[in-house]
Amino acid sequence: MRLQGKVALVTGAGSGIGRGIAEAFVREGASVALADWSEPGGKESLAQIEAAHGTAILVLGDVSHAQDAQRMVDACIERFGRIDILVNNAGILRSGALHETDEQTWDLVLDVNLKSVYLLSHAALPHMLGQGKGRILNIASVAGLQGFEKLAAYCASKGAIVELTRNMAVDYSPLGINVNCIAPGLIATAMTAGILEQEASREAFVSQTPTHSVGQPEDIASAAVYLCSDESDFVTGEVLVIDGGLTVR
Ligand SMILES: NC(=O)c1ccc[n+]([C@@H]2O[C@H](COP(=O)([O-])OP(=O)(O)OC[C@H]3O[C@@H](n4cnc5c(N)ncnc54)[C@H](O)[C@@H]3O)[C@@H](O)[C@H]2O)c1
Repeated sequence: MRLQGKVALVTGAGSGIGRGIAEAFVREGASVALADWSEPGGKESLAQIEAAHGTAILVLGDVSHAQDAQRMVDACIERFGRIDILVNNAGILRSGALHETDEQTWDLVLDVNLKSVYLLSHAALPHMLGQGKGRILNIASVAGLQGFEKLAAYCASKGAIVELTRNMAVDYSPLGINVNCIAPGLIATAMTAGILEQEASREAFVSQTPTHSVGQPEDIASAAVYLCSDESDFVTGEVLVIDGGLTVR
């Protein structure tokens, strides 16, 4: 029970990596506020956690809207009285080289993937600062570290998350709040179903990955548990790449 008694807010917890992180946190003894804009996905995550006798609440809303982000944090405080861990995981993928990306798509991707990190952290930090301890974990991507074809807005949003993580680590670690990020490679979720369903694109990724495999949400969740537990008190501003070796070549 590495997170016994902790309270976590996980965005995008209605699917994929966010659901995997929320479930792992509950297994390690945390109470979790699940935040998502998808009611069916959120309800399914909540039902799975409750079936395993975990403690969770569901807060529906859009992480890119300030009022919704504040409501997610408020609901967590109202139900559990504190917030020890914030996982900024919600994200969307839109493809296109820069000249193919219209302004609306650019704004949408930057708002959902990056502005949400600002909004949720802005709402959660006053509580963490009051507690004198906290953890923020941002989910970036290997697409924030290297150039990937036709992913202009997505790469920009994820690269910015990596740098924002470093800035926040410098500002908040002296105040007891460690801030880290995970950069996943290809993980099997709804976001990547289109890539993985096509034999050619799946094979292209797998053949370039030294482990010759596709990651699962649990691969990210186990690292998230470490980075949000007291075991990682001396770890901050770190970008933990979990990609089967895709980017080490
Ligand atoms: N799957 C991968 O290969 C991969 C690789 C690198 C990084 N990531 C990142 O991991 C995170 C999770 O991705 P995933 O693969 O689990 O995707 P997913 O599509 O399975 O899950 C994303 C969840 O976020 C929610 N969401 C999206 N926009 C939202 C919004 N505006 N407000 C509230 N909730 C919102 C969705 O409803 C969904 O439940 C994302 O930030 C993604 O960029 C994924």
